Amino acid sequence: MCGIYGYISTEDKNLSWSLNRLEMLEYRGYDSSGLSSLTQNGFDIYKSTGYISNLYKEVKSKKGKNVICHTRWATHGKISTENSHPHKTGDVCIVHNGIIDNYNELKKTYNLQDVLKSDCDSEIISAIIDIQISKYNKDIFSIIDALCALNGSYATLIQIAGLDNTIFGAKNKSPLYIGKSSHGYIFSSDLIAFQGIVKEYYELDDGEVFVATANDVKFFNLYKLPLNKSTKKYEDINFSSSIGKFSCFLEKEINDIPKALCDTLFNYQNETLNIPNLTNYECLHLVACGTAYHSALMGKYIIERHLKIPCYCHIASEFLYENFLEQRKCLFVFISQSGETFDTLQCVKKVKNLKYKTLAITNTKHSQITKICDYCLPIYAGKEVSVASTKVYNCTILAFFYLCKAKNLQIDAKLLFKIINRTDEKNLAEKMCKAKNILFIGKCEDYVTALEASLKFRELTYKNCASFACGELKHGTLSVVDCNALVIAYLTDIKYAPAINTALQEVKTRGGKTALITSIEGCNNYADIIINLETNKTMPIELYSIIPMQKIALFACQNLGLTPDKPRNLAKSVTVQ
Ligand code: M6R
Repeated sequence: MCGIYGYISTEDKNLSWSLNRLEMLEYRGYDSSGLSSLTQNGFDIYKSTGYISNLYKEVKSKKGKNVICHTRWATHGKISTENSHPHKTGDVCIVHNGIIDNYNELKKTYNLQDVLKSDCDSEIISAIIDIQISKYNKDIFSIIDALCALNGSYATLIQIAGLDNTIFGAKNKSPLYIGKSSHGYIFSSDLIAFQGIVKEYYELDDGEVFVATANDVKFFNLYKLPLNKSTKKYEDINFSSSIGKFSCFLEKEINDIPKALCDTLFNYQNETLNIPNLTNYECLHLVACGTAYHSALMGKYIIERHLKIPCYCHIASEFLYENFLEQRKCLFVFISQSGETFDTLQCVKKVKNLKYKTLAITNTKHSQITKICDYCLPIYAGKEVSVASTKVYNCTILAFFYLCKAKNLQIDAKLLFKIINRTDEKNLAEKMCKAKNILFIGKCEDYVTALEASLKFRELTYKNCASFACGELKHGTLSVVDCNALVIAYLTDIKYAPAINTALQEVKTRGGKTALITSIEGCNNYADIIINLETNKTMPIELYSIIPMQKIALFACQNLGLTPDKPRNLAKSVTVQ
């Protein structure tokens, strides 16, 4: 996780300019941030906990030519200025993305107990590079020697006192890019930060190291051999950094759903995409995390209904450790908004080693997962900034319909806007803010929506809630239902109505409150609150049944005075184990 950014330039630039760019990476983590500017006089280091906006106050109007900066998502060591990057040891200052697995071992081997000032694993990098350059030379070969001692993942930028015209960097399992700009080189862990300032860039591969001045960049591998690398053309990423008339990105992105669905469908109908014919496979395995996993669960229902091909869904972090016993000809489908999620990426690698064909469904064209998979079905939702995924979930479900070659698909934007703009959900949102015990229930597709609904609500309100397959309530969970319980049921298929009604009746009998989100008219026998979902024959309800709960999670989050775009302890892209 975390984001790193830096530049080496012939021109002095305002330090706040690099913070501006760093903010584009803030979705990677926002526990703390820091910046180091290296001059002839040494390092000027600024750090702050909380959002990058706090760091602006520290850097004021200062300028620099050699700058590295970092936005952190805490893994090793609590959120504090000591643990935030950059880390400086002696003559070396670094920023780092990733995790150094052998941190404790290196600390002992190099006798660094009294040298390290933080609890952050990253500090070991500056410490051992400093040892190497003190013994040998201040050059890339000493840096390579130090890097060879590290196990784990890293994208790192390195400054060395006395070399204020140089920045070093290296990569292993965490992305790092080097962009050519008009006055030097720019470094970033995500291509997004090159927008508008870079036309060509280098992509570092695992085990590669670079040394850059404002006029030149040289690449080496960990055997100290020089490498010839070619640049790639930078295509501007559709990144809208403005919330426009909305209160936050989350609100904007929920409002983007109709357009995102229309754009995705338009592209599917008008572009030639390199995707496999699912009917060539005996079964499908769908792998993902979080909200993407919920879209996989929905995908299973859609594919099995339309194509009658058995589908199996796996949580990526579990699948990684499971024995895979499949004997049939199967296709693996990896779903990831960011295309960078560590667990999902590791699963792609596992499956590629087993020689299965792989398809990525992703909203990020230039991602690690897209690069490795055999096929890619893009989602055209536009950049999703809010940590809580909304519009991409809706569009991923559309992607499954498209994969099944579903006929007569249409997006009724007018109907979607009607649901998005109404305020019917506010009452339930207020009740949920006060409730002590919230349970979601549903059957089959509706159970999947219930799972996503409760994740969204937990993520945004920090209130614990859980979801259950409706029939499971009586197998244990009913014991937690009393007058403090609020049970919210999803019902979008008439055949599930008797089971849902029975469950809600059981809740009411025990003094619990009930709510129903439904597209079925006249089925409201036991719900205290009802939220209607209007229907349209050509627009499958799976595409939008989640919208009321996406809205409720936003309303409740704002009602509780929390931060919708950046919920605590989370990050948009989870690139650690
Ligand atoms: O980028 P990905 O789709 O692979 O991310 C997977 C999950 O981390 C993500 O969906 C997460 O659950 C969301 N924050 C939920 O809103």
